[in-house]
This record gives sequence, C-alpha cells and structure tokens, in this order.
Amino acid sequence: MVQRWYRTAAVYSVDVGLFQDTNDDGIGDFAGLLSRMDYLSRLGVTTIWLNPIHPSPRRDGGYDITDHYGVHPRFGSMGDFTQLLNGATERGIRMMLDLVVNHTSDEHPWFQSARSDRSSPYRDWYVWSDIEPPDRFEGQVFPGVEQETWTWDEQAGAWYRHRFYRFEPDLNTENPAVRAEILKIAESWLRMGVSGFRIDAVPFLIEPKRPGADLSKKDYAFLHELRERLSWLQGDVALLAEANVPGEEAREYFGYADGSATRLQMLFAFRLNQAIMLALARQQARPITQTLAELPDLPRHAQWATFLRNHDEVDLGRLTPEERQDVFNAFGPDPDMQLYHRGIRRRLAPMLDGNRRRLELAYSLQFTMPGTPVIRYGDEIGMGENLALPEREAIRTPMQWDDTHNAGFSSADPGDLQVPVIDFGPYGYQQVNVTDQRRDPHSLLVWFERILHTLRECEEIGAGEHEILEVGPPHVLVHRATGDRGAMLFLHNLADRPCQVPVGLQAEQPGRPLAVVADSDYGEKLDLDAVELAGHGYRWIRLRKHP
Ligand code: NOJ
Ligand code: CA
Repeated sequence: MVQRWYRTAAVYSVDVGLFQDTNDDGIGDFAGLLSRMDYLSRLGVTTIWLNPIHPSPRRDGGYDITDHYGVHPRFGSMGDFTQLLNGATERGIRMMLDLVVNHTSDEHPWFQSARSDRSSPYRDWYVWSDIEPPDRFEGQVFPGVEQETWTWDEQAGAWYRHRFYRFEPDLNTENPAVRAEILKIAESWLRMGVSGFRIDAVPFLIEPKRPGADLSKKDYAFLHELRERLSWLQGDVALLAEANVPGEEAREYFGYADGSATRLQMLFAFRLNQAIMLALARQQARPITQTLAELPDLPRHAQWATFLRNHDEVDLGRLTPEERQDVFNAFGPDPDMQLYHRGIRRRLAPMLDGNRRRLELAYSLQFTMPGTPVIRYGDEIGMGENLALPEREAIRTPMQWDDTHNAGFSSADPGDLQVPVIDFGPYGYQQVNVTDQRRDPHSLLVWFERILHTLRECEEIGAGEHEILEVGPPHVLVHRATGDRGAMLFLHNLADRPCQVPVGLQAEQPGRPLAVVADSDYGEKLDLDAVELAGHGYRWIRLRKHP
C-alpha cells in the first residue's frame, strides 16, 4: 500500500533567502537552511515547503521564473541544494518545492524568443491576441496594482495574457508541448529527491486561455494526467494545490472516491482559513461550524492543508462584504494594512495584538481542523510585519534568530541586506527571537514544539473523520475527530469570558477521558458533563485509543 505520509505531516513554509545567510552577502542560502535543520527537526515539522528557488529576477518573490531546471545562484549551487536535501532526509524531513508553471518571467528565454519572432517554436507557448481582447480589463489577481490581464507588447506586435503581474506572461497550458514540459520539470525535481510540490495558481493553470474564453470550463483532466504521470515515477508523491475555490469545485481538484478520477492529494483550505479569521474576529464558532459542514466529503487519498498565514496577504475574498469588514476592523483597520481590496498584509501575532492566549487559541483551532497543518517560518516565535515594505513584502522579513547584529540572520552590513530585519517596536528582533524563546520554557516557541509533537500522537486529526457537537454556547466550538485507532474531543472558547460546557458523551466512553493539552491547568478532574473553559481557553481530550 502506498504510504500516505502527507496526511499526518506538519509542513513548514520557508523562503530560503530569508532564513539564514552563511556567506555574508545579505541573502539567505541553502547552506544556511541546512545549518538550521536541527532547529526545524526539534520544532517538530516533518516537511519543508520551499518558496521558489529558481533563477528569477525576483520581482514577485521568485514566482517569476527564468529557468525551472536550475537554482538561483544567490542561494548556492545545485550541489548545495543536494546537500540540503541530504541533510533533511537524514533527519526524516521531506522537502516540497513550488511548481510555478502557470506563467514565467517575461525575461524567460522562452518568452524572449516568443515575443521576438512569430515563427519561433516558443510563440505558441504563450497566449497572444492580434486584436484587443474583450476581457482585457477583467480577472486581475492583483487589483489596484495591475490594471489589465492583456498587455500590448510592441516587440511581439500582439497582446499577451497575464493573470498576475504584467512581467509574468501566462504559459499556454492548452498547448501539448507546454504540458509535456511541465511534466518534465516536475519529474526532474522528483528524481532529485523532493517529495512533492505545492502547485501555484492551479485554477488559472487549467482554465482556457483564449481571449474572451469561458473561464469556468476548467480542464481537470490535466490534473489527473499530472498526478498519474508523477506517481508512476514516485508512488507517494504529494501534490498540494493553491486553489482558492468553493467546496463543490474543490471536489473536482481532488477527484472522485469511486476511483473514476484521482487527481490532487491536497488543497489549501482557503475557505476554512477565512472562516477561522471571521470566527476569531466575531468571537463566534458559527463561521467555522458552517464551513466545516459545507466542506465536501473527500476521497480516501485526499486531504486539506490548513493554514492561518502564508507568504501572501490574508485573502478574505470569499467572505461577504460585512464579514470582510468585521475582519478588517478587528485585524487590519488601517488602509495601509489592507491589500488588493480583499486582504490583510500582516503576520498573525500583530493581528492578534501579540496576545498569547489568542495566538494559542488560533493555532489550536488550526491544528485541530481536518487536514495537514502548514505554518510559515517565524510564526512559531510570533514575528511581526514591516508595513514600510511594499505589498506582500511586509510579511517577508528575515528570520529573527537572536538579539545580535541583524538578528543573527547575516553578518553583512545592515545596509547590504536584501531585506531589512525588523528592528523596531514590540516585534523587533531585540524582543522577538529564537534564542530568547529557547531559554524560556513558557515561550511561544516551546509551546509550538510541544503542540507539534503532540500532533504526531493524534493521527485522527490529520486522517480521521471530523464532526461538530452542538453542545456549547455560540462562542464555543466543540468537535470530535475519530480515526481508525481512536477518538479525540476538542473545545475552543472564542470569547474572553470563562464558561462550562455540557459535552455529555460520558456513557459512550469505554475508559476515562484523558486531558492531552490545554491553555492552562484545569486540575485533575475531568467531567464531560461540565467541562471548564477559561476565556480564550482550549482543551484537547483523548476519548479513546486502540493499540
Ligand atoms: C501565488 C503565490 O502564492 C503568490 O505569491 C504569487 O505572487 C502568485 N501565485 C503568482 O505566482
Ligand atoms: Ca548568502
């Protein structure tokens, strides 16, 4: 049987350039990440997802690629990357890469050739129109920053399509030659030893590209082909899609339980992310219970990937205007904290006013939701953002290791850092760093270590069935996860006032329920007919376990 390792994984997302610099050029590198592998191992993450590592002008955090087969020299050589993979493997940590094939950089040799010559073999690798397309001003992913999705190219003498920035022309993924190339890219990295991919912008990748096309007609068959071809090469490959789509549509990305189509294994739970944000803002469980109830049943191979924050803005685009406004008011009231008319460009810790109880509550919610948790580097110590940096760069600052020069990230001159470290306010590296938190047994970092290790003993969370118990007041979420080997109960109090929850269930339990984790010490006694919960409190309770 194929081992579904990704169902019980804990994923750590990191940008190599921002983690640890070893050659003093002000840019993090492969050797630096390798040197911090023991830190990650101790933290308890099982998989690292690297943001793009390829050659790129890096006008979009490396998502603007000029060579999918290489590594950016600023990070090191291919040899350094191999050593990094070896170092991870030695510690039982898997590596996933970003597969960014919806578009390339406009500096990519394919695009350069395509735009300069109508008879170039690469011309049809991109999407052109001789006349101004009717949907020129529709469908921008970065509204407010980009005005159009088709831009006139003087050199090409034609309009080219780009859903993202104008310097990221869309590949013509309807072209069989482009599809073959995508497979070739993915296969090459699998051969190198990576365990899977986070696939960028999947809904755009499989939408029809022609001017004025009906964008709802997605080609899901390509996802099946991709999955099938890659699993021939590596049976337990994991494909994790960035696809912010409604529940019913999400089914199409996963494929069907009857085996008629197996497509991707994981999708980021964007809908759940927005529900958690709304629940935290309104201090009500309902957004979460409602969303959980609406999530489609998944086939056996499939899994959600849960997250609170990632390297982009908090995307609130699927909330109603009133709901979105409530989240803005609570977590990003200044217009400068907001982005693309739909999101918040902040880290979680400042969104929650650095309030430790609310932070733990938020992560406890994430870690008990159905799915594989993904966390963003630096969130384990509660890093903040730098709003002086443009767009999403605000949340992409160097890792804060200690309170010495450049936060221990680099020995370079501060002026030579690619991105400045945060050295001001309550989230500056003097206040928030790994070394201080390592020394403090009550720190957020130590809490993260504990919770991530606990997660490994609770496989029903990642792989089990989740069910809401309607037993608490509106500000309390009570849910249960049941797996092949046991069952767990979770209580979360979204409000700041304490309460008692009559869970019941006592009669159903063969043994004595066991307190696993909680926000504070609730004493020896655990009575399921009246479970105590402090304000913003949470409790994980093991109901039963079979050997
Ligand atoms: C989604 C990525 O998460 C984002 O950072 C990037 O800008 C776009 N895709 C374009 O690749
Ligand atoms: Ca470096």
